[in-house]
Amino acid sequence: MTESLTPTSFDTFAGLLKTASGLIIGKDKVYLLETRLTAILKREKLADLNRLADRLRGAGVDALARDVVEAMTTNESFFFRDDKPFQHFRSQALPRLIAARPPGSTIRIWSAAASSGQEAYSLAMIIAESRAQLGNRKIEIIGTDIARDQLARARDGLYTQFEVQRGLPVQMLMRYFKKEDASWRLSDPIRAMAQFKEYNLLSDLRGLGRFDVVFCRNVLIYFDQPTKSRVLDGIAGLMLPDGLLYLGGAETVMGITPRFAPLPAERGVYGLVGATTTPAPVAYRPPAAAVAKAALV
Ligand SMILES: C[S@@+](CC[C@H](N)C(=O)[O-])C[C@H]1O[C@@H](n2cnc3c(N)ncnc32)[C@H](O)[C@@H]1O
Repeated sequence: MTESLTPTSFDTFAGLLKTASGLIIGKDKVYLLETRLTAILKREKLADLNRLADRLRGAGVDALARDVVEAMTTNESFFFRDDKPFQHFRSQALPRLIAARPPGSTIRIWSAAASSGQEAYSLAMIIAESRAQLGNRKIEIIGTDIARDQLARARDGLYTQFEVQRGLPVQMLMRYFKKEDASWRLSDPIRAMAQFKEYNLLSDLRGLGRFDVVFCRNVLIYFDQPTKSRVLDGIAGLMLPDGLLYLGGAETVMGITPRFAPLPAERGVYGLVGATTTPAPVAYRPPAAAVAKAALV
């Protein structure tokens, strides 16, 4: 018979997750440990979570701890999630960057909790639709995440029928994906626009270089206040002075860091405080090839 989780075991998991990934789990989330760690218990031939916690308190368990952290991440993502940030990127951020960056320069975009790649590829598809306006400016999209299995999926660019039915306009599905058995494979040119790297947001991020645009969405919600501040301050340090930060619908910088301020009349879009250039709204002219937004049902 399996024992219920002891307070010591709970503290072992909670401590590991907070230190290694920033994830905070309350006692009401024990069911998440039970559901998400079942495969590891089976693989390690352990009777229950208490035995796994005992193992984690031992020595030489880095790889096991890594697997536990990865199994506990929530990787939910979908194309054009929440739509508005992508509309803003398409109609405001990108035209402004094109105007501000000289021909020949590289515009760098970071999807900072990229999961299985839908956010990075949504941006890549928008950019592909705006090729004519870009001139010979280059675009680099970097997707990072702590979860290696999700990064592998992102690189693969293969999505289920269910995944392409969530938010992806049907014209984009037809234009940029090919049916492969029961799934859909993103085209090589769109896949080639994004690179995916394993990076922990709690680590030193400076190796990533500097960015014009950062999407860091639906990950800060899992962190406590000091961790949110630390991550946002780290991101601020990587942004160009006139760069833009996009957060998720339930996330904000307010009361967390003084480094960012919301753009006037925009929800979820932030600029650096003291930036030399205040982002002014741009009159948007859709590119000739712009596709209508007709989401699949
Ligand atoms: C809910 S998904 C969000 C995906 C995408 N940004 C979106 O909004 O659709 C959160 C992602 O954050 C990642 N994550 C959690 N903690 C992390 C950390 N400390 N460093 C990097 N990524 C982390 C998880 O692995 C997961 O893939």
